[in-house]
Amino acid sequence: MSESDESSTMTTEVKVSEDIPKDSKEGGEKHSAIVASHYNKIEDRGLVARKKSNIYFLRNFNNWIKSVTIDKYTGLVKQRFTLGSPFRVLDMCCGKGGDLIKWSNASVTHLICTDIALVSLEQCENRFKSMYHRDYQRKPKVEFFAADATLQQLRTKYHDPSTKLHLVSCQFAFHYSFESFKQADCMLKNAAECLEEGFYFIGTIPDANEIMKRQRIAMSDTFGNDIYNIQFLCDTDNPPLFGAKYNFQLDEVVNCPEFLVHFPTLEKLALRHGLRLVEKKRFEELFDVHGRNKQGLLEKMQALEAYPPPHGRFNGNEQRKEPEQYQHVEEYARQQSSHYPPRVGTLSQKEWEAATLYLFFAFKKMKTSYDANGMPVYS
Ligand SMILES: C[S@@+](CC[C@H](N)C(=O)[O-])C[C@H]1O[C@@H](n2cnc3c(N)ncnc32)[C@H](O)[C@@H]1O
Repeated sequence: MSESDESSTMTTEVKVSEDIPKDSKEGGEKHSAIVASHYNKIEDRGLVARKKSNIYFLRNFNNWIKSVTIDKYTGLVKQRFTLGSPFRVLDMCCGKGGDLIKWSNASVTHLICTDIALVSLEQCENRFKSMYHRDYQRKPKVEFFAADATLQQLRTKYHDPSTKLHLVSCQFAFHYSFESFKQADCMLKNAAECLEEGFYFIGTIPDANEIMKRQRIAMSDTFGNDIYNIQFLCDTDNPPLFGAKYNFQLDEVVNCPEFLVHFPTLEKLALRHGLRLVEKKRFEELFDVHGRNKQGLLEKMQALEAYPPPHGRFNGNEQRKEPEQYQHVEEYARQQSSHYPPRVGTLSQKEWEAATLYLFFAFKKMKTSYDANGMPVYS
């Protein structure tokens, strides 16, 4: 789907009582504590350690994807503003504050950061303080609080529960809510209920179709490569709509249970909260679309690795780079009829396989009116 599909569905009316997934299950909620404890334990490593990591470029690439999409939706939000309007953002599942610089670049005037992992949230708050240490004038109004966005109503924790938001962002986290219908519904409610009409909920999640495709190709419930591994913990022949659990491991960074997000179900649930899908793109599509016009940012964020490396074929750990991870570059050189591979920006095969597990989504808050029974109707 691309943004152009949006206009064709603009006139549909949705009543909230319709379209409840039949396979909805109560229960779940068991994993939130495991997830929180996992993220709380991850150390905030310094830049030197990060540069030596096997996934240094992958992390930067994911960060570039977030920058490009946040920048795009900030632009759309601002088109609707008059000069000097406040710009209010909810960073739901903010983690250690990996997007604080993006919010600063977007000149957000009011930022709400929340996460289930208290230690991560404290690191986020400290990062925020050091960012604005000498820059009081640009400092936005800010709120930090710990909450389980799949079980608690976030609005009740805002300084002002009637706050109206212009952008809600949930990066690399929404899939935790697909443990149960109740949790997914709660997280969507949190995303939607304070959004002003015509504004956006954006996020990134693993692409369940791609995961299932790789499981079928592997003909095994465990698959991956040296840097990522997926181990299914549910029936892969007939995965449930909610609670389709797998363990996800990414280098030394992530090792915890996640849940497949059946996208058509997400779309239906989102409509119940007045959120209409306006964009859905896999990461490789985003790279195709924005790779050229955001090339400067790719370079600045070191989102791609120079290959062959400028100082010989070694990585930060002084280990030899595995040439088979860069066969696509050699192939490119052949296509260019060049004897020597040109130096290009790329990702190793393993990192590309991990990056292309993900997709980006954007929903727009619809116009809300109320029927004779006081139920919301979205159009
Ligand atoms: C992969 S990290 C992403 C952090 C941040 N959004 C980013 O892109 O850098 C996932 C985050 O989701 C948070 N999280 C997971 N389940 C959550 C829940 N039920 N409620 C709130 N936060 C949750 C975790 O604590 C973790 O900080």
